[in-house]
Order: sequence, then C-alpha cells, then structure tokens
Amino acid sequence: MASGKHNTPEKPRQTRVLKVRSSNIGHFVFHDTRSSFRGDWELHLSKQNQDAAYLAEAASAIRYSDLPVAFPTETVYGLGADATRSAAVQGIYNAKRRPSDNPLIVHIGSLSQLRKLLAPSEFSGSAHDIATDPIPAIYHPLVSRFWPGPLTILLPLPTPSPFAPEVTNSLPTVAVRMPSSRLALALIQLSGLPLAAPSANTSSKPSPTTAAHVLYDLCGRIDIILDGGPCAVGVESTVVDGLSSPPVILRPGGVSLSMLRESPGWENVQTAYKDGAETGVPRAPGMKYKHYAPTARVLLFCGQLDAHSAKQYLGHSACCGLLRTRTWPENLLERKSQIPLNVYNLNRTAEPSHVHNTENSVPEIVDIVLPLQNYSIPSAKYSQAKMDTENGDTMVEVWDIGLGPDTSDIARGLFSALRELDQKGVDVIFVEGIDGQEGDAAAAIMNRLRKAAEAEIAL
Ligand code: TXA
Ligand code: MG
Repeated sequence: MASGKHNTPEKPRQTRVLKVRSSNIGHFVFHDTRSSFRGDWELHLSKQNQDAAYLAEAASAIRYSDLPVAFPTETVYGLGADATRSAAVQGIYNAKRRPSDNPLIVHIGSLSQLRKLLAPSEFSGSAHDIATDPIPAIYHPLVSRFWPGPLTILLPLPTPSPFAPEVTNSLPTVAVRMPSSRLALALIQLSGLPLAAPSANTSSKPSPTTAAHVLYDLCGRIDIILDGGPCAVGVESTVVDGLSSPPVILRPGGVSLSMLRESPGWENVQTAYKDGAETGVPRAPGMKYKHYAPTARVLLFCGQLDAHSAKQYLGHSACCGLLRTRTWPENLLERKSQIPLNVYNLNRTAEPSHVHNTENSVPEIVDIVLPLQNYSIPSAKYSQAKMDTENGDTMVEVWDIGLGPDTSDIARGLFSALRELDQKGVDVIFVEGIDGQEGDAAAAIMNRLRKAAEAEIAL
C-alpha cells in the first residue's frame, strides 16, 4: 500500500463507506463479573454477516496497511492507525494534512491492554495494586467513573515507549482514551492494537460527526470509512492532565469541569485552555492552530439578535447562515419577526445524556444508553428575508438551522450545522451562543464556537 511518504503526487484512492450497525457485529463477552469494558473482554464476531465482515476488513487494514481507517466514536469520527507503527501513524498525518508536531490520542479497549503497554514486564494484565499500577493513582477515580467515555488522560510516556514517536512528538506524555462506542471498541479488539486516532477531518475544519463529513474531507485519501451513524456526543473528548499540580483541563469536552470536580483529587482542577476568552500560552499543542472553522465568516452572538441589529453585521452579505440554539426564533431576519415567549417547550423531558452515574461504579455506556441509529441531525431550511437598508428593501438569502435548547442536542448538531451552512455557500454565519458556565458540554460548545468565530459579540 502507498504510505504517502513520496514527493510524487499520490493517485486518488477509491474511498469506500462501509455501513456497520453495532447491534449486528456479534457478542461482547466479559471475562469478569462487572460486565464492563474496563475489564478483560472479547468480541465474538458474527459469521456470514456483512456488518461483521466490514469490521473485520477494517481491522485487517489497520494491521497490514499504512493507510488509516475512519471509524465512529461516541464523540466524533476518528482516523485510526496502529499506534505502535511509524509508517501507519505517518499515514494519519498525510491523510489529514495535519501539522506533524500536533500529538495524537491513543485509543485503548481495556485497562489490561493499557497496563501492558505502559509496563509490559511487570504486568500480566490482570492483577494490580495501587502502588505498582502504571496508571497513576490520580486517574483512578476518573477511569472508574468516565471510562469508557469522552475523557482523555495524559500519562507519562514509558521508556522504552511502545508507541511510534510520531504519536507523541517528543513530548514526555502520551494522551490515552477508552472510547465507549461499541464499533470503536470492537475495532480496537479485532485489530489487537492500540489505535492512534485524531478526529477524521482535514486539519482546521470542524470535526466530523457523520461518515458523510469524513467522506467530504478525506475522499480519495483513505480506503475505508466505517459508517456507524451520527456520533452521540458530537464534540471531542475532554483532555485532562493529572500529572501537573493542580490538575488541569487542556481541552473542554464531553466531561465537564463540574463532573471532574466531583472526583477525589480533582476538586481543584483548573482550566488551562485558550479559546479567546483567556490570555496566556495554550497548553494543549493542538490549540495553537486554527480550528473548527468553516470557510464562511462566523459571528458568535451572546444575547438576543433581531432583524434590526442583524443588519449592521450583514454588511454586503447576500447569503446568510443562521445557527440558532436556545431562544432565537425562526424567521429571525424578517423585519416583522417577533420573539415568541415560548419558542421551545423547555419543560420537555430531558433526554438521557452521556453523564455517568455517580452512585454506581459501573459506568453507563454512551451508545448503549443512546443508540447511534436514533439520532437525526437538523438540516438547513432556505428562505428569503426582506430587510430595510439605506437603499430601500434588500433581499437576503437565509439558510437556517435550529438545534433547539438542549445542550446535548446542540453539541451533537454543532459541527454538522457549521459544515452544512458552509456547503450552502453562505457568506456569513450568525451563531447563537449559550452560557458556557453551564454544566455538561456547554463549555465545550462555546470553546469550539469561539475557535470557529472571527468575533464574539455581546448584544
Ligand atoms: O474525542 C476525541 O478526543 C477525538 C476522538 C477521535 O477520540 N479525538 C480527537 O483527537 O479529538 P485530536 O487529535 O483531534 O485532538 C487531540 C488533542 C489535541 O488538542 C492534541 O494537541 C492533544 O489532544 N494532545 C494529544 N497528546 C497530547 C499530549 N501528550 N499532551 C498534551 N496534549 C495532547
Ligand atoms: Mg481534531
């Protein structure tokens, strides 16, 4: 297979999108009584079943090819390769056009797999005590509460390192996460390897939350995209560093500050990321690059936009995208539009979220609680708005997406909405911000929006 290391132009690949329903791939067999992916487990793959065959093909490509495979996780789609093999990891950077000094997250399928990687000689993989566990004690409460799930932890890089140097790029730490998507776990188990995987987008574009997004960005550059439907969480994992004192959040994500602060040793966790609201040097290397940005200009508003104030921000734009969340009404740019008092039914029953159960040590598994197939992501509606300008009435084309008031829905639909509005060819996207101090994914949503936006405007 071509590794893309040569200077000659690469021939476009035939990229195939393989639909795999996680309910069809086989049975997960747990080897301890807690029925948890944190313990030892294996997948008994279904026989003579197309979904299982596609999964096996992808696992084989991970083992033997230098081209990465795109696969769904509960956060966003990842672009996975054997984390122990340099040529395979280089394949990720080539396909993504990613700066090669930005390190990657290693995805593991069980704690015993991780322990063997961190300390191969000392661990049989099963028995361990807290004093000799290569997973530092500070992470134990997080691992038992949030794994598998949208949390990435920084671990000291063992010497000798089992990982290809391209994974960590001369950092003394390695970022590790156990995803909760059953397709991701199955791919890790079947390949028998730790998977280095960044988000499966072209660098600097919004992360992909559907297979179609991956295809749009990476068509012709990879062979296989596993399609497991839209991602449950929709924003990337929270990245934490528990090796520093106090521990810090390097990237906000699916696990919030308040959730972390409930864990012993993490009561004083600080935020150490930069998203325009802070000053200082970013701690996560990825944060220094332009991120999540569509081609269109993005203006992030905090407060109630109306047709009158919208006019001044439209400039000469003839085509505008609207990304509404909690309260902005439909037909916002129509001069006669009124702000209805009850835009949404705020009393509707809260959907189950990815928040883990604190009282029970066995975590909920995101895509078992929220089956992937059930998500529908809102799409854009077209209209024309007549606006008053100094030159009289002007028609503005509008592409409108309402994600609704629920934080989980906003997180799940955010990247998809930015991508869709961009593809409609709008000149500018007006986004309704939310209160980033709220729990769950609110801080992650505002962080990604700030990175995509050229300005944040308080109304
Ligand atoms: O949800 C996710 O985390 C997704 C899915 C695919 O798992 N992955 C993802 O990977 O978002 P990526 O590469 O797009 O973002 C990884 C982030 C980057 O900001 C990177 O700089 C940071 O993690 N990172 C990785 N290794 C690090 C390290 N050793 N020290 C500090 N930051 C690190
Ligand atoms: Mg990324």
